[in-house]
Amino acid sequence: MQQSINEIRQQFIQDLEQVHTSSELELVKVKFLGKKGPLQNLMKGLKDVEPDQRPVVGKFINDLKEFMTASCEQLESKLIAEEEQQQLSHEALDVTLPGRQQFVGRKHPLTQAMDQIIHILAGMGFSVQYGPDIDTDYYNFEVLNFPPEHPARDMQDTFYVSPHVLLRTHTSNIQARAMEVNKPPIRIIAPGKVYRNETITARSHVFFHQVEAVYIDKQVSFADLLATMDEFLKKLFKQSIETRYRPSYFPFVEPGMEVDISCLVCNGKGCQLCKHSGWVEVAGAGMIHPEVLRNGGIDPEQYSGFAWGMGLERLVMMLRGISDIRLFTENDLRFLKQFTAL
Ligand code: PHE
Repeated sequence: MQQSINEIRQQFIQDLEQVHTSSELELVKVKFLGKKGPLQNLMKGLKDVEPDQRPVVGKFINDLKEFMTASCEQLESKLIAEEEQQQLSHEALDVTLPGRQQFVGRKHPLTQAMDQIIHILAGMGFSVQYGPDIDTDYYNFEVLNFPPEHPARDMQDTFYVSPHVLLRTHTSNIQARAMEVNKPPIRIIAPGKVYRNETITARSHVFFHQVEAVYIDKQVSFADLLATMDEFLKKLFKQSIETRYRPSYFPFVEPGMEVDISCLVCNGKGCQLCKHSGWVEVAGAGMIHPEVLRNGGIDPEQYSGFAWGMGLERLVMMLRGISDIRLFTENDLRFLKQFTAL
């Protein structure tokens, strides 16, 4: 008995010397301390030992068990510490790696400009009123003095949803609504998208943005319109801007005009945006037609007003030196990332 205890101990020590990893150690533990291990056999053999020898032999077996358990535990903590150390050295931070730049999102250049325009006009006393993109023929045309079959309806190639429902062709669809819900003095702006069935080119698109402005009060004059427009453009461009007012026709204003500003993309020299004229049209404007005031429940004998509809994309192209309107909707990050806040 004593001999086999010694043999097992020797064998255990030998095996343990070969162990280099915690999984190898696990195998040794199973072999010597497991249910089918030599200790169990020794225990079973105890009954054949002389009764007076049993406590002594039993103690040897126990000592062996304790020795093996303690050796395994000791080795195990050593191995685990080594293995953790090794893993850490693999995962360690390489402080010489160049840092990754954080990507900070920003607003679309059109949104930035729209925010700025609203901010400026709010400072000049206008409040914002939104209108629907999908609207009726009534608000987009009829109430604005476009009688049915009026040839001016063909001026704007309209996307129809159904015979009387359409995608608004201009933000002027807010004019009658502004008069319905407010009493003069009325000073509102209406920013939003508008839609026209046009050929897409560097200068025009099937949808773009406008900012409508409506000012109705006693004795609002054409001079107020010109002054407000000039003041607004000056604030937006942070410099005096050369403007050109050309008489034009819109059924809902009288007199009506188109507003050009000198092309800032080419500084008036001529480019594809200004069609080599040096001027870019940015708005339609005029004194609100008496008939439109009447349709909105306002007495044109007492009140007068001006309105403008300004194209956002053209303004932003001037502000930022962009020569192709299609860039705004192509979602090319190389383009979008160039624009920090105005
Ligand atoms: N609604 C016109 C357009 O889209 C512009 C305009 C607005 C003209 C207000 C006069 C007054 O072309």
